Amino acid sequence: MRVSSNHIAIRVIQDEHDRLSAVIHGMQYFVRAINKTAKAPEPKVFRAMMLYISEYPEKVHHPKEDQYLFSRLRLRTDQVNQTLDELESQHAQGESQAHALECALTHYELEGAAAFQPFFDMVEAYAKFYFSHMGMEEDAVLPAAVKFLTPDDWAVIDAQFAANADPLAGGEYKESFDKLFSLIVNITPAPLGLGPAI
Ligand SMILES: [Fe+2]
Ligand SMILES: [Fe+2]
Repeated sequence: MRVSSNHIAIRVIQDEHDRLSAVIHGMQYFVRAINKTAKAPEPKVFRAMMLYISEYPEKVHHPKEDQYLFSRLRLRTDQVNQTLDELESQHAQGESQAHALECALTHYELEGAAAFQPFFDMVEAYAKFYFSHMGMEEDAVLPAAVKFLTPDDWAVIDAQFAANADPLAGGEYKESFDKLFSLIVNITPAPLGLGPAI
């Protein structure tokens, strides 16, 4: 369920979820293609996707959710505390999960078919984990934020997330992630991306 709101923080969070979903669908496409056709897209495609997730959601998106959105929401209501506890613990697992995924990819690159199944299973589990994470945020946290946060809360939260969307405020950092996202779209095989079909 999508919350419609004039708050820039809500729009930025939803846009970032869309991009993250596109990248995770790309990862699933990558392993499913190998599974079905035994033909692997180039590993650099998967590595670019991993880099995006490790550097943007893990370092910018989730920390801002914890620090500004979740903490303010806890001050205004205790109705979603359990959900926030769960989401914060998932944020804390993000880095180690990304690392495990990278190790599984490296094993697959070195060992070939024998190491494919664990890599495939890990990507599918990672996708499920991330889709459910974003779903909880959109279904429970954003509606609660719209309901309970005060104008002062929004002034702080909107300013923080606006910096993600504003190329001037975000400077080169924002620009480099836009470029990385375009690169992923361009090298991911069609029909999901714009790269040559495999
Ligand atoms: Fe999150
Ligand atoms: Fe999020």
